[in-house]
Amino acid sequence: MKKTILTGIRPTGNLHLGHYFGAGRTWRDVQDDYNFYLEIADVQALTDNFNDPAKVNKNVFELTKDLLALGIDPDKVHIFIQSQIPEIAELTVYYSNLVTVSRLQRNPTVKTEIAQKKELFGNDGESITYGFLGYPVSQAADITAFMGEVVPVGDDQLPLLEQCREIVRKFNSIYGDILIEPQQLLSNTSRVKGLDGNEKMGKSLGNAIYLVDDPDTIKTKVMGAVTDPNKIRKDDPANPDVCMVYYYHKLVNSEDNNEKICSECKKGERGCVACKKELIEAMNEFLRPIQEKRKYYEENPDEVKKILEKGTKDAREKAIDTMKKVKKAMMIDYS
Ligand code: TRP
Repeated sequence: MKKTILTGIRPTGNLHLGHYFGAGRTWRDVQDDYNFYLEIADVQALTDNFNDPAKVNKNVFELTKDLLALGIDPDKVHIFIQSQIPEIAELTVYYSNLVTVSRLQRNPTVKTEIAQKKELFGNDGESITYGFLGYPVSQAADITAFMGEVVPVGDDQLPLLEQCREIVRKFNSIYGDILIEPQQLLSNTSRVKGLDGNEKMGKSLGNAIYLVDDPDTIKTKVMGAVTDPNKIRKDDPANPDVCMVYYYHKLVNSEDNNEKICSECKKGERGCVACKKELIEAMNEFLRPIQEKRKYYEENPDEVKKILEKGTKDAREKAIDTMKKVKKAMMIDYS
């Protein structure tokens, strides 16, 4: 029997190359070998976007199209919408008793996010909501509702997984051995750097190339990418290892081309403008099949809805089954 894998992603924007080479690659790799539940975490997105429901709603569909375009196969993966599985909300309430407020406040992922919010909004944390503080509890419900055995995550999510395991252990020790302690599967690539040379590509950093970027956008972005600051003139020798243009060539161009680019750059036989133009070509070439696939779903929105409906139906069946076991164990089934 295939093991069950569960992961989630917040619908707050389009996917970029960081997602493609990070989580996206891991998910494509595992989709044949696992019973895979992929959650569009709209409830979690609402924890810090509750005042912008239209954004979350729109991005549920944007994200689904991106996932399909990057190669998630809906015949293999149950892609489902978190809010449409009421059992997750129900489990969250019961799990809330099994975790202390101070433990949530000490969760490193939550702590970092609260610090970022303080920096962004300049407040003293007074505006941190109960829902936001509690989202790790809801994430534990996401995982356990489907008896997820394996959870593919980035390393920033490990504290949330640990929190989930603690809740599972606590639950099982009080109510009996019902829930499964999930194991992590770390995404198989380190982060993709941004166009500006930042270690991380991210929406808030404004340094990302999105899967939906059209050739004009690609051109503007690549032209602005950071190159070796010591290279002043076109024929100065330079160090490709500090150049973001070469970094992206390595991601999307062929090995043969890249060897040539690297040696020409080192010898001062290659100007940055020409090199950027080549990257624009290679990037568009790389994105073309992804965008063609996406276009199909843009033109057939009913198909996207059907995929989500089917994935959500499958997921719901599993969650209902878990809920029955949980209620029985907690002596709240009254039958
Ligand atoms: N917290 C994850 C993120 O921000 C998304 C997520 C929601 C998730 N539910 C999950 C990840 C369950 C793993 C398992 O990226």
